[in-house]
Formats: sequence, C-alpha cells, structure tokens
Amino acid sequence: MKQKILVAGGTGYIGSHTTVELQNAGYEVVIIDDLSNSNIEVLDGIEKITGKRPAFIQLDLKDKAGTLKALQAHPDIKGIILFAASKAVGESVQKPLLYYRNNIETLLNLLDLMPEFGVEGIVFSSSCTVYGQPDPEYLPVTENAPIKPAMSPYGNTKQINEEIIRDTIHAGAPFKSIILRYFNPIGAHPSAEIGELPLGVPQNLIPYLTQTAMGIRPELSVFGDDYDTPDGSCIRDYIHVVDLAKAHVIAMDRMLNNKTEENIEIFNLGTGTGVSVLELIHAFEAATGVEVPYKIVGRREGDIEKVWANPEHANKVLGWKTEESLTDTLASAWKWQLKLRERGIM
Ligand code: UD1
Repeated sequence: MKQKILVAGGTGYIGSHTTVELQNAGYEVVIIDDLSNSNIEVLDGIEKITGKRPAFIQLDLKDKAGTLKALQAHPDIKGIILFAASKAVGESVQKPLLYYRNNIETLLNLLDLMPEFGVEGIVFSSSCTVYGQPDPEYLPVTENAPIKPAMSPYGNTKQINEEIIRDTIHAGAPFKSIILRYFNPIGAHPSAEIGELPLGVPQNLIPYLTQTAMGIRPELSVFGDDYDTPDGSCIRDYIHVVDLAKAHVIAMDRMLNNKTEENIEIFNLGTGTGVSVLELIHAFEAATGVEVPYKIVGRREGDIEKVWANPEHANKVLGWKTEESLTDTLASAWKWQLKLRERGIM
C-alpha cells in the first residue's frame, strides 16, 4: 500500500476519476466532499471499478474546525488533491462572493493545516481559463503564456488560488505543490460506472450534447459561427477525463517520492489538438451513429474564441501524454449517458 491521499472534492466529476486511478496505483484514498454538486452513490461506482471503497467524510472544507478533525482522524495523509470548488462560470458572475468564499477559504484552510500534519504536497486543479484569449503567437499555449485578466469571478478564483499557493511556498512552507491547468475535460470511465452528472440544465458542451442526443433536450445551441476559426465556431482542447486523472497520480508520485527538486511546478494538461464545436458534434455523430440536432445561435458572453494546449512540458517532465482518441472519448460520454438512462436518472 502506498501513501494515504486526501481527495478534496472526490465525489465530483474529475475527483471520482482521479480516485479510481489513485486506488488502481495502490494509493489509499480519503475523500472529503460536501456533496453540494455530487452524489454519494459515486462511491458505489468507484468501488465497482476498483474493488475498494474509499474512506469518505461529508464536510464543507470552509469549516476549519471540521477540517482539523478530519485530518486528526487521518494523521497519516501525505498528499492532498484539491478539486473541491464551485465551477460554473455564469453562476460566478451572479454570485461572486459565493465563489470567492468557497474557492478561496477552502484552499486557505488546507494550506494552514498541512504543516501541522506533515502533509508533503498539494496538487491544485487550475484551468486554461487563466490564459484568457491567448495572443496568436502563444497558440498552442505553453505554461509561459501571459496570464490575462480573468473574465469571470470563477476564473479569478483560479488565478488567486495559484498566487496564494505560490506565495505560501515562496514563504518557505514545508510542502510542495503542482498546479495543473486543465483544458476541457470530457468523457467518462470506460466502465460507465462513473461520469459527469450535472445538476439541472447543463452549461458545458458535452453534457448538453449527450442529453440532446438522448432526446432530453430538443436541440443543441452552437454559440456562434462567426469566429475567426476555419468553420466559425469556437475551438477548444478536449481531453479524456481518464487521461487527465492519470496525470494527478504522476504529479502526486513526483512530489511525495522526491522525483523533483522544485517546490512548485505548473503543467498544462491537454491533447495539443484544437477541435471546433461543429467538428465535435460531427465527431460525436460518427463515433456513436446518433444524430445531434443543433442550431447556430449568437455568441455566448465571455467565451474565448480559440484555445488549445501545448502539452510538451507535461509530456517531457511528467512522462505523461494523452492516450485516448477523440472518438473513444466521445463514445465513453455516450455510454455514460445511456447508463444514466438505464438507471432511470436521466
Ligand atoms: C469553461 C471555462 C473553464 C471551466 C469550464 C468549467 C472559460 C474560458 N472556460 O470552459 O475555465 O473550467 O467552463 O465549467 O471560462 N458551447 C456551445 N453550446 C453549449 C455549450 C457550449 O456551443 O450549449 C460551446 C462554447 O461556446 C465553447 C465550447 O462549447 O466554445 C465549450 O464550452 P464549455 O463546455 O462550456 O467549456 P468552456 O467554456 O470552454
């Protein structure tokens, strides 16, 4: 058995897939989640895939006394992966204080408590949103591209969290950190035991698309076809969530087993390929044989025109690269949607 890892937000979409990969690699996982945007049944899915049920504590990490108690109950935690955060861009514009409080207090509490318990490293979930719309010479985006003013309170919390971690490490904190900037995670575990479960009307493209393909939504709105891209729709870098999850296991091993001298490192996690919204719809139809009714509508406020990763730094330094094809990734998203229907959830 390897070290014990706290996965904060471990019943969420990326957290659950990362828990599976950690357990498969031999780590012992403790999940803390307040279940504000996830379901306790996710633990059943994790157990079905790995044969092991992670320890679980239902807790809002803004509760510092509660967090202290949780760490006292597991004083052998060696690493933390922080997913727990609010993540809806639009909602963050409506409720900025909620986003600043949730996303910043959680980090402050964990950083405060880590030294007392000898926690040696923290992996932080950041986002390509910190780059805003990169200037053409920075596409594909490397980690050295300029950080642009955030377009939303959500994006701002990611920038502020990165700064908080950097300042804390520079001040001599006795732990390491790896910041992972995700591009667009999609898809689900190939078993379809876990996946993305948005509450209410999905804001992100793939859940909206699969719900439309299922007939739950009449049609998908494509937000704009007049961008400066080959087909006029926005371009993103869509990465299979399992590929993304695996990078966390490598990052944790790197910090805890002294495979790096650096106290803080930053990596882009993407495929390196940009795909437009229209290309994605057609790729989904080709991968599944299911038609997706869609219409072109106006641009969505705050959208970035085009962004995709240069993942060479992660490829070389972490020895990590994406393995899943876009076809398999989209097929996994569809298999998950079918499973939700089978289970009567959606
Ligand atoms: C956004 C954030 C990202 C955040 C993620 C999590 C920015 C720039 N990006 O990603 O940081 O981590 O949300 O929620 O703030 N689209 C449609 N129709 C739809 C939905 C989406 O055409 O119904 C298009 C969008 O215009 C965009 C693409 O699909 O071009 C992807 O959108 P989405 O899945 O919402 O992700 P991002 O906006 O890229």
